[in-house]
Amino acid sequence: MSDLPSWPVSTDRERELLDQVLASPQWGGFHPMIGEFERKFAAYQHCSHGVAAVNGTVTLEMMLVAAGIGPGDEVIVPAISFVSTASAVSRVGATPVFVDVEPFSFNMDPAQAQQAVTSKTKAIMAVHFGGSLADMDALMALAAETGVMLLEDAAHAHGAEWKGKRAGSFGLASSFSFQNGKVMTAGEGGIVLTNDGAFAERMRGFMNQGRRPGYSFFHHFEVGNNYRMSAFHAAVLLAQLERLDSQIELRMRNWPVLAGVPGIRWQEVPAAVNRNPWYLLLGRIDAAEFGETRDAFCGRLQASGIPVTPFYPHTLYQNPMYMGGLPHRVLPCPVAEACVLDAFWLPFRLLMGDEAMTARIADVVRGDRLPVEPN
Ligand SMILES: Cc1ncc(COP(=O)(O)O)c(C=O)c1O
Repeated sequence: MSDLPSWPVSTDRERELLDQVLASPQWGGFHPMIGEFERKFAAYQHCSHGVAAVNGTVTLEMMLVAAGIGPGDEVIVPAISFVSTASAVSRVGATPVFVDVEPFSFNMDPAQAQQAVTSKTKAIMAVHFGGSLADMDALMALAAETGVMLLEDAAHAHGAEWKGKRAGSFGLASSFSFQNGKVMTAGEGGIVLTNDGAFAERMRGFMNQGRRPGYSFFHHFEVGNNYRMSAFHAAVLLAQLERLDSQIELRMRNWPVLAGVPGIRWQEVPAAVNRNPWYLLLGRIDAAEFGETRDAFCGRLQASGIPVTPFYPHTLYQNPMYMGGLPHRVLPCPVAEACVLDAFWLPFRLLMGDEAMTARIADVVRGDRLPVEPN
């Protein structure tokens, strides 16, 4: 298929806002559009403060630094995620503790997270994999019981809702990514959201070269860094945010057409997730049930022009840096290790055509295998 919906997409609205930046004397991190984007995106995700930055990897680091997490501390992370979830913990000198995911939600198993808590645990980092939220009722209860901070790596979860409450608003703070493949993007970009004003100020100090509000530009109170987002990024993101709702609704409408392909164990989305941005279209393949192995399935789709990723090649803790001795702890993760062998994902842009386009894609995904007879 050569006529698949493409991503990213832009309209004259991006150009209009970019022109405003170009016409101004401030292209950098101090243009008012950045503050405007921080306020609008924070409110969109039901939070009161946002601190935008250059990408969703440094925003994880900013969040951990502001939370006071460092050497000697442990942070519980799921064994399945993009590397930044764990590497940000390692970069601040803390120890990631890897726990398994649930069999079909691809999200952290709260029961195992509970077993992983020790006197060293400072935070649980929930990841909303593919856009569908981790079990927030269970993880909030665990954080409350143990006094451990709840943080969210919401890099996949723009606009996602658990019982009407948006991703990123559950714990002390949350991190989002606006990298090129995300459901809203400026090519690169990230933001931390929080409802704690003092926490937001600490983060802003660290990512703005150790400055404090009310002091001169050349007063630096801590060893910070420059992670400021440029005004060009904020301009594009403001325009992208305006279209996000209608794009999510389109994907939610089209999803059942693809999910109708029998034999694939599509991601289980809990009933509590009343709004899913469908960032990744995730599934697992039982070769006996589906009649094709995961790798044969991926090869067939790729040959037909459907982009498919045969999952991560390993769990997070099987990355060379952790295998090579970088401090970490691992609980048994049989589900994560099985997903590496039988799971896949399709990109969300496949759900951004009309229903007929989605039906054509579903036909290719189904292939000409004989339907499996129910027992
Ligand atoms: C779960 C997760 N966390 C963090 C990141 C890092 O975001 P960025 O690529 O903006 O640095 C990603 C990026 O894909 C991600 O998938």
